[in-house]
Order: sequence, then structure tokens, then C-alpha cells
Amino acid sequence: MITKIVILVSALLIAYNKLKSTDYQLQEQPVIGIFTQPSTFSEYNRENYTYIAASYVKFLESGGARVIPIPYEANHTTLDEIFSNINGILIPGGSTGLKGPSLYTQKVAYLVNKALKINKEGGWFPIIGICLGHEVMHYILSNYSDNFLIDVKGNDKVSKPLNIEYRQAYFYGQMNDELFQATLKENLAYYHHIHAVPPNLYEITPILKEYLRITSTQIDDEGQLFITSTDGINMPFYSFQYHPEKNPFEWTIPANHSVHAIQFSRIHSYQFIQSCRMNSNKFGLDSNKLIYNYNPIQPINQNYNQVYIFQRLLIMDDIEIQEQQ
Ligand SMILES: *[C@@H]1O[C@H](CO)[C@@H](O)[C@H](O)[C@H]1NC(C)=O
Ligand SMILES: *[C@@H]1O[C@H](CO)[C@@H](O)[C@H](O)[C@H]1NC(C)=O
Ligand SMILES: *[C@@H]1O[C@H](CO)[C@@H](O)[C@H](O)[C@H]1NC(C)=O
Ligand SMILES: *[C@@H]1O[C@H](CO)[C@@H](O)[C@H](O)[C@H]1NC(C)=O
Repeated sequence: MITKIVILVSALLIAYNKLKSTDYQLQEQPVIGIFTQPSTFSEYNRENYTYIAASYVKFLESGGARVIPIPYEANHTTLDEIFSNINGILIPGGSTGLKGPSLYTQKVAYLVNKALKINKEGGWFPIIGICLGHEVMHYILSNYSDNFLIDVKGNDKVSKPLNIEYRQAYFYGQMNDELFQATLKENLAYYHHIHAVPPNLYEITPILKEYLRITSTQIDDEGQLFITSTDGINMPFYSFQYHPEKNPFEWTIPANHSVHAIQFSRIHSYQFIQSCRMNSNKFGLDSNKLIYNYNPIQPINQNYNQVYIFQRLLIMDDIEIQEQQ
């Protein structure tokens, strides 16, 4: 009798542990890297300072992750070291020049191509690009197509409904019907840009169709169609022309703070971090490299409530020409 109970209990324990281990295969302590860019703040010259808007940090933290800055001016050794210690990358919005490709584009491309290789070989390395980040992902993945951007009208500092092209998209697929309908009708997606990626880039450079699926679009004031979001095809690449991180965290620009607008934003942060949890890298770097080592500041007269400022690692002699994106 006792033996039977012991066998039963150990069988249950084994089953429970198995269940537990499959439940807990997801990375519980994800760390995400955010690329810095040259400072655009008058009080911090771009020769010596770089920045990350704090809203991107809060966006990832609210999904359950910690953040490490990726200094875009770092050498490949440092970029490799960071890459192998993180579970995903966020490429933020901004106004850094991309074309050339610029030094910024080259450094982002170095890590996007590393992630692409892993993802093509059956691994899992998530990247999310927002606004300029969405544009630079298209620039890199189209192999530096010359005319990858068009100018659009009426999309700077405005919230609009989303024209969802793919209901099953990784993000939109998680919306309940109420939020999905609201996204189609209410001004929940905040835009802050004058350049955009046209769908015909996918015809000019068909390789893009192997990597990305267009999941939403928008028409500008002059009737031009442009891409507002994409999902990677069989790989965790995601890009958004609009700013899901601004609805909850930016108050100096007219982002929407309504209940639906916040729910809309939360789907983006939650789903992205869920994807990053499927990458098994473990953070083993000095914890002083995390964002907690820095204090955000409130910049003068800018489009952000708070930004993190970093001292440039080395003085570059080829600082990119500033270009509004
Ligand atoms: C950047 O820092 C260097 C070294 O401290 C200094 O010589 C230079 O003037 C600074 N650049 C600007 C634009 O202030
Ligand atoms: C890369 O940069 C790091 C940190 O700035 C530095 O310590 C290292 O020597 C550099 N490595 C190479 C190969 O230049
Ligand atoms: C990208 O462009 C370069 C230079 O034109 C070319 O050598 C290379 O094969 C292209 N790669 C792809 C994936 O199209
Ligand atoms: C914000 O969204 C709400 C609905 O959630 C809508 O009624 C309102 O007009 C939007 N505000 C702006 C500024 O677009």
C-alpha cells in the first residue's frame, strides 16, 4: 500500500515538474537593448552626447523587461557582447540620417543581420522598429534600396485610425473585438513623421516579401499609400510607423491617452516582450550597464517628457548630417 502511494506521489511529482518546466521555458527575466542616437537637444551637443527617449524604456519595462542601452557608436566587439546577453532589440524613432548608409545605419544593420541569420537558421531573436526604426529596418532588409522613402503630408503629430490589412497579425490578433473595432475607427495610432515606406518597395526589392508581411497601411492627405506596420514572416521582426510607446508616456505632444489608446499601446508592449521571452540568452554583463545606472532628464523645449543622455564612447570624426525622418 505504502509503496503504491510512494509510486503514485512520485509519478505525480514527475508530471508536475514536467508541466512546470514547460510552463517556465519562457525567459522570466528578459533584457532588451535599445539603440542610442546622436543627441538632438541643444543643451547636449551631438558631438559628445547620445540619447534614448525614456518612453521607449518605460514601454519595454511595462511589458516586464529590463533595458540596456546599445551605444550605436560602439565597436563590433562591444555590440557582439551586448547582443549575446539580451533577448531582443528596440530600434527607436528619431531624426538621425540613415542614407549612405550612415554610421548609425551600419551599426544597426550589423545587429539586424546577426538576428536575421539566427532567425533564418531556426533560432529566435526579436527586433521591433518604431518610426525611424521601421524605416531603417526596411532600408537594411531591402539591401539599401536608394528610394525606399516617400514624403507624406498630414501625418506629423496626429493620431489616426489604423487600416488593418491582416487581422491575424502578431499584435492585432490579440485584440478583442471591441479594441479591434476601436482601432479601425478611433484615433489611437499616433504618427510623428514626414517620410514613409511605400508598399511598392516590396515590388522593387522582392527579397522584402521573404522577410516581412504588411499588416497595416495608411493614406496621406494627398492620397499616397504607405506602410504603417509589418510582421516578420516566420521570424520575430516587427515594425511600426506609428508610436505605440507615446500614448501612455508622452504628454508634450498630442498622443491619445484614452482608455482604448492605452489598451492599444499595451498590446504592443506585452506581445513584444512575450516574443522576447522565447529567446534563451541570459544576461551576464555588469548590472551597471543597465539603464538603472542613468538618470533621465527633462529636456528643454522638445517632443519628449524625459530622455536618457549618454556620453559618447569615442569621438567620431564622421558625425552624420542631421536629417528629419
Ligand atoms: C566635445 O568634447 C570635446 C572634448 O571634451 C571638446 O573639445 C569639444 O569642444 C566638445 N564638442 C562640442 C561641440 O562642445
Ligand atoms: C571596443 O571598445 C571597447 C570599449 O570602448 C574597448 O575597450 C575595446 O578595446 C574595443 N575593441 C576593439 C577591438 O577596438
Ligand atoms: C546587396 O547589394 C550588394 C551590392 O550591390 C550585392 O553584392 C548583394 O548581393 C546584395 N544582397 C542581396 C541579398 O540582395
Ligand atoms: C482619442 O481616442 C478616443 C477614443 O478612444 C477618441 O474619442 C478621441 O477623439 C481621441 N482623441 C484624439 C485627440 O484623437
